Amino acid sequence: MAVEKERRNFLGFALGGFTAIGSVAALGAMKRTWDPLPSVKAAGFTKVDLSTMEENVLVVEKWRGKPIFILKKTADMKANDRDVLVGESRYLISVGLCTHLGCIPAYIPKDKNFHCACHGGMFNASGEAIKLPPEKPLEIPPFKIDGTTLVLGEEGEQFKKLKAAGEIA
Ligand code: FES
Repeated sequence: MAVEKERRNFLGFALGGFTAIGSVAALGAMKRTWDPLPSVKAAGFTKVDLSTMEENVLVVEKWRGKPIFILKKTADMKANDRDVLVGESRYLISVGLCTHLGCIPAYIPKDKNFHCACHGGMFNASGEAIKLPPEKPLEIPPFKIDGTTLVLGEEGEQFKKLKAAGEIA
């Protein structure tokens, strides 16, 4: 009789264990179903904390498969209508693709310009083309400034002003 009871207890524990494991696995599967696909994430917003950035140090983020340049300008860099203002600081925010044929220009902190190795084009720290062949400035992606956070993918006030001023095609 005691053996039969122990056997039933064991079966009860075993069944309970299998049920618990099954429930955890089912929850995991449900979470994977609810999570956005990587492609959906890539099409969404990207947030960048600007408060920790150092002057003249280029930060490259990825948004919708494109490199995005973020550069906190130094005091001696010329102010430009394309500058993004966050408190007292000015930033360049642009798509990091050369407007000639789409190579990724390199930022040279020493001369504070972007150099494109493909055909020798150059852009200044405001993203303006300063040496051919690129004729257009670096593109500005849709962005919003929320406190000291940059939100890529959303059109905020500064982006709309730049657009109205013709700085964004
Ligand atoms: S792609 Fe940059 S100069 Fe041609």
